[in-house]
Amino acid sequence: MSNEESKRPAPPATPVTPKPAAARPPASAASKEVPRRSFLSWMTLAWTAFAASMLAAGTATARFMFPNVLFEPPTTFKAGFPNEIQVDQVDERFKSRGVWLVKTGFDQWGNSSGIFALSTVCTHLGCTPNWLEAEQKFKCPCHGSGYYKNGVNFEGPTPRPLERFAISLADDGQILVDKSKKFQQEKGEWTNPSAFLKLTV
Ligand code: FES
Repeated sequence: MSNEESKRPAPPATPVTPKPAAARPPASAASKEVPRRSFLSWMTLAWTAFAASMLAAGTATARFMFPNVLFEPPTTFKAGFPNEIQVDQVDERFKSRGVWLVKTGFDQWGNSSGIFALSTVCTHLGCTPNWLEAEQKFKCPCHGSGYYKNGVNFEGPTPRPLERFAISLADDGQILVDKSKKFQQEKGEWTNPSAFLKLTV
């Protein structure tokens, strides 16, 4: 730096203008804001509670109008006409309803043919056996119980035959199966007239 430069007076410092303080709302406005906010929150809460109570009331009314009822299929149903089943046939059309229809022919003593309705529930532990046409038997897939076509057990752990349901002819000539009435062979119930539908032709 030269001597002349060092003798020059220093430029005056730029004056710093102080920033005005942020405007604050007057004390009376701030004090009004707080209650307004709390009023709005209170209203929101109230409306939420009201809506929730209305929803609960609506649900209760709907439950009252439409109660939880378990609709089970009727225990009695029509199962077609007798001539739709062949002699010695196991009719599986109604297996999904828990029934096999079996038609017997005239026996050697001339006893009438007829139809009986076998339950599809294994008498061991309740599984559903399968009809094996080639082997002419019902076989349970769970533990291997086997039943003849007439429902009598002959192999596996099951202690007794399949059960039969009540069977009759409806007014229109169709087979009528009533699952509410069961017949057990070991109790001598298969001879009950309702356990066997006699056919005259
Ligand atoms: S449930 Fe059928 S053999 Fe056990």
